[in-house]
Amino acid sequence: MTKNIHSLIIAIDGHSSCGKSTVAKDLAQLLKIAYIDTGAMYRAVTLYALRNHLIANGKIEEEGLRSSLEDIDIRFRTNLSKGTNDTWLNGENVEEEIRDLKVSNNVSPISALGFVRKRLVELQQLMGKKGGVVLDGRDIGTVVFPKADLKIFMTAAPEIRARRRFDEMKAKGQNPAFEEVLKNVKDRDLMDSTRKESPLKQAEDAVVLDNSHLSPKEQLDWILDKLTEMGVSISNE
Ligand code: DC
Repeated sequence: MTKNIHSLIIAIDGHSSCGKSTVAKDLAQLLKIAYIDTGAMYRAVTLYALRNHLIANGKIEEEGLRSSLEDIDIRFRTNLSKGTNDTWLNGENVEEEIRDLKVSNNVSPISALGFVRKRLVELQQLMGKKGGVVLDGRDIGTVVFPKADLKIFMTAAPEIRARRRFDEMKAKGQNPAFEEVLKNVKDRDLMDSTRKESPLKQAEDAVVLDNSHLSPKEQLDWILDKLTEMGVSISNE
């Protein structure tokens, strides 16, 4: 039986900077489905905490953050001029700021907090429950949507991931040191996979996509093939 893409949930989990968002965005655009960048939501909470002095010298003021959670409004809005899906925090477009190294360096401990995860997971489940959606993150196939129709676990070598993020930052006019970016990638791998709350792990029924040597087009085709194998009609009607 043919499955309708607009009723399906696609979960993409994996290591940081391995191109999950690129492929998720491409997929969403091609199939005209919604895209939820869950990493951006943890980044937005981190930016809020930094701006409100709830993180000082790497230490989080947990009670302050817990009581501020209900004041944190996160939404995704299509940016018509750029054709992007931007993250808004309390009425402000923060898409660029949440990608800064300052946020990247503080997001892992924020995303390790159980009360932050609980709140964001609820929000993600609400945003995605109708289907016709692709979500990327670390715990989508294991926690957020354990019954997702297609689960993909993405990875690539750390040096390749660091190089991609480095190039991305350079293109945005930032001037990072490669070693610092590589260290950030490795540190986050370790924290993401060893934390107590929802550590990054491959769901048993996920298919692995190692894109170390794949182009964005090749990885997109790889996923489209998987959908076709599942009996999903992927004509862009
Ligand atoms: O995908 P990203 O690099 O933008 O994610 C930012 C951080 O948020 C990363 O350290 C892992 C964390 N994260 C998470 O814990 N759970 C998710 N579903 C998504 C991201």
